[in-house]
Amino acid sequence: MKKWTKVLKWLGIGLGVLVMVLGVALGGAYAMSGARMDAHYEIAGRSFDVPSDEAAITEGRRIFMSRGCGECHGEDARGRVLIDIPLMRIAPPNLTTMASTFSEPDWDRAVRHGVSPTGRPYVLMPAHELWYMSDADLGRVVAYLRSLPASPSELPANEIRLIGRVLHVLGAMPVVPAELVDHDAPRPTPPAVAETVAYGEYLHWACINCHGEHMSGGPMPGAPEDVMGIPANLTFHETGLRGWTREDLYTLMQTGRRPDGTSVNPEHMPVRISRHYTELEVGALYLYLRSLPERPFGER
Ligand code: HEC
Ligand code: HEC
Repeated sequence: MKKWTKVLKWLGIGLGVLVMVLGVALGGAYAMSGARMDAHYEIAGRSFDVPSDEAAITEGRRIFMSRGCGECHGEDARGRVLIDIPLMRIAPPNLTTMASTFSEPDWDRAVRHGVSPTGRPYVLMPAHELWYMSDADLGRVVAYLRSLPASPSELPANEIRLIGRVLHVLGAMPVVPAELVDHDAPRPTPPAVAETVAYGEYLHWACINCHGEHMSGGPMPGAPEDVMGIPANLTFHETGLRGWTREDLYTLMQTGRRPDGTSVNPEHMPVRISRHYTELEVGALYLYLRSLPERPFGER
């Protein structure tokens, strides 16, 4: 009897110590992530041309939808609660009310560096993918947003909660995209708008968040599968798009229908975004996907 009391006592102490160590580690991760969100970024921001003709504004709206801005900031750009889960609450802001107050360098800083006019790094604003956006495309998006009447909306504050911060510190989730941008790198020369591998590469940044940097799909780290689904392999491996034609890819992106007649879950593969791609853009993406090394499913 006595022996067991002792064992239980030590077990109790052991557990207590474990809980304490865990508590200290979690508290540390919370603070560390917080400090990184409070960091200050000094970025000059650069200017670019903003056109004002109708055609540019219409094209700006299409780019706003096809690059996913509309998905996060709302189709009407008035912001919305994107996610509210134990990990975090993210409510991308209203872009109609600030559009007229942001200068061109402010837009460059926000969209391509993920940093506010005061130097605060934005959370979950995917600047590391949007960094590649050309002046011409950004100029038309800004033209579109400035053409919208300012229309205020009520939104809750963003909140990165404990587990979200742990994933941030572990490098499993790009909570502060500004950390992933090389802010001093020269702007890349954008490829010509044409059905080429280079233009497909320019466009594929809108797909990697889900399909992975190597485009071979698999479960998204930290994302609930019932909400996000499991992104498919887009390389031409046998577990991917082998046998797909350019038209097959176009039909899928327009309608969600696969060549075998089945459909993707439109809540998982966002057809509401991909249907805004032009035939030329899909053709360029197709050539780019074909140019990639074939990888088995799930290597992300
Ligand atoms: C994955 C979701 C997501 C996508 C895609 C996205 N944004 Fe954001 N964006 C956010 C979040 C979240 C914030 C605010 C973060 C914060 O305040 O820390 C933000 C902030 C901004 C801001 C700063 C607004 C302000 O009031 O300071 C601008 C401008 C902006 N986004 C423009 C865009 C444009 C243009 C695109 C498309 C090219 C885009 N965003 C795509 C999530 C997104
Ligand atoms: C928000 C996440 C997300 C984004 C962004 C996204 N996809 Fe997907 N995609 C998915 C998911 C999840 C599936 C699997 C859906 C299913 O099986 O129901 C999928 C499936 C597909 C399929 C079907 C493949 C097959 O074998 O069934 C194609 C093709 C595809 N995506 C292309 C693209 C392209 C091209 C882009 C970028 C322009 C893109 N996706 C952007 C999440 C995404």
